Amino acid sequence: MTTDSHRQRVAHLRAEIARHDDLYYRAGRSEIADADYDALKRELADLEVAHPELAGADSPTVRVGDDRTEGFQLYRHRQPMQSLDNTYSEAELRSFDQKLRKVLGLADASALEMPLAYVVEPKIDGIAVSLTYEKGKFLRAVTRGNGVEGDDVTANVRTIRHLPLVLAGRDHPDVLEIRGEIYMTLEVFRRLNAQREEAGLETFANPRNLAAGTVKLLDPAEVAKRLLDIVLYGLGYCSGEVAPSQSAYHALLKAWKVPTVERLWTAAGIDAAWAAIQELDTARKGFAYATDGAVVKLDDFARQREAGATSKAPRWAIAYKYAPERAETRLRAITIQVGRTGVLTPVAELEPVPLAGTTVSRATLHNEDEITRKDIRVGDFVLVEKAGEIIPAVLGVNTARRPADSEPFHFPENCPECSTPVIKLPGEVAWRCPNLACPAQVRRRIAHFASKQCMDIEGLGEAVVDQLVSKRLVQTIADLYRLRQENLVTLEKFAEKSAQNLIAAIATSRTGELWRLVHGLGIPGVGASSAKDLARHFRGMNALVAASEDDLLAIEGVGEKTARAIRAFFNEPANRILVDELRDLGVEPTAPAHAAAAVLAGKAFVLTGTLETMTREDATARIEAAGGKVSGSVSKKTSYVVAGVEAGSKLEKAQKLGVPVLTEQEFLTLLGG
Ligand code: IVH
Repeated sequence: MTTDSHRQRVAHLRAEIARHDDLYYRAGRSEIADADYDALKRELADLEVAHPELAGADSPTVRVGDDRTEGFQLYRHRQPMQSLDNTYSEAELRSFDQKLRKVLGLADASALEMPLAYVVEPKIDGIAVSLTYEKGKFLRAVTRGNGVEGDDVTANVRTIRHLPLVLAGRDHPDVLEIRGEIYMTLEVFRRLNAQREEAGLETFANPRNLAAGTVKLLDPAEVAKRLLDIVLYGLGYCSGEVAPSQSAYHALLKAWKVPTVERLWTAAGIDAAWAAIQELDTARKGFAYATDGAVVKLDDFARQREAGATSKAPRWAIAYKYAPERAETRLRAITIQVGRTGVLTPVAELEPVPLAGTTVSRATLHNEDEITRKDIRVGDFVLVEKAGEIIPAVLGVNTARRPADSEPFHFPENCPECSTPVIKLPGEVAWRCPNLACPAQVRRRIAHFASKQCMDIEGLGEAVVDQLVSKRLVQTIADLYRLRQENLVTLEKFAEKSAQNLIAAIATSRTGELWRLVHGLGIPGVGASSAKDLARHFRGMNALVAASEDDLLAIEGVGEKTARAIRAFFNEPANRILVDELRDLGVEPTAPAHAAAAVLAGKAFVLTGTLETMTREDATARIEAAGGKVSGSVSKKTSYVVAGVEAGSKLEKAQKLGVPVLTEQEFLTLLGG
């Protein structure tokens, strides 16, 4: 019997799932762990089976999620993009095999004598995408959307370095949809997240979420900076036959030099597939992308067609998801870290607990809102999970084990390092310490300045910086250039020789590249890439310091927020003094080396269509060598659009905006002149 409470529960589950779907597919966020989300869906599906009158065609149990967002053109897939049924249990995996045997009329045959041939692939935790190639040339990239139509993200996907613009080999189908996942490597994810944390921006829980947010950015130049990657494994529409099976298709992908899965298994029967799933669980720890499971697919395409699909997922494939490892442990304390720009980050200090191969004793709590939302209290037993098997996250509190006398956590009102009252800037979630002389900030600032991505001063790592600051030998960046050998020999682990080397390394940095200094100053929102843009444009510190917000906005790649931050930075008297001091101390970095021959200095190019005498990479390199810049999208700031063969929407946009369009020949002439 169906009661009101069933009805209410179904409505509640649908609303919750819809909310999580929206967060996951559209905003690249997740509030709950995958397994908990899957459990909600499972409960809904069970209720719908038990109470068929509550089932509906728009239930999330019968349709795929929806990632369509404002700002992109919609494109209809030639063949719908479905989802996969998934399971966490071996028994269900085996019943998948049995059902499939039944559908294919093999239920009575011996599974040993006539096993189904499967392929087992990693399930990549990325963003589904469908690439269209015409006669082997890349044409378009579309997200899954609602499965029927998705967002055209071609301009963004084009920025992916490993995206094959042309398939290797010959005799490609006229039209071919290749499917796969866009992802971000762990390394890039860690770096970008750290930068975001420093800049007081919200961080992402895992690479998948950050990649999802990136694919849907409206500015391809921004996307390019985030170094997305791609892996392809699937076949969508194809004019004509390309391969008889998934394993043969994989061989073709390889021959076309398309980036594909790191490993795959062919398995005769479900026992062999299960063994492959176990092997993959070990192997995946060394993969470049995050995986959350294994996908078992019937190998033979003819049999796949015979098995067919439901409204949502094929009957010939299933995803087996690995349970994320979790552990419960006590929260000993919440400490506050002060970053280079003064951002206060709360950190969970945990009773050490083994988790997914390492011992976890700390986890970021992101910000005050996160602690309040989860009501995390010191002394609580918390559930930790490695989100996407990477960063330990505190999922929540086991309130049953909460000590009777526990109290809500109060975020400090003063900086734990220097006691200055903390502030919150409009629109930001993070609290900041506004004291530029705060020792924590000083240490981090100096370490950043000396780091590889900035002045690259060898021998000036964090441990040395800590000593220099705590011995008051260095209080500002400028102080580094006042250091003498006799100061250094007083430091731990320093002898005559190492002191000499460090002094020499610091001296050498005086005449490095300008962008390194610009990056090293630690202007909020200015990373290495913007620093290069700024250095290329202003060619010296004086011009940069004097630039108005409008001057800054005129630079391709500098947005309003960054322009405002740069201005605010140089309006700060302490920063002005720093720049002057550096100059007086002989820190005079050089502008880009190609300055003299910079015939294209300050010019922003957009390349579109296929060039005939050179590759896109060559064209980009030549533009950059001549002082110009290449960006992915046409705007009012674009100086020229270079239109090759089959130029598309960018050419139209250039014409609409009145941006000069060059043929390949004209472009070569410009380079030559
Ligand atoms: S096959 C007809 N293979 O996981 C659906 N999907 O949760 C065919 N995914 O929508 C999908 N790795 O975006 C397939 N090796 C793999 C995959 C994979 C990741 C994604 C895909 C799918 C989602 C389902």
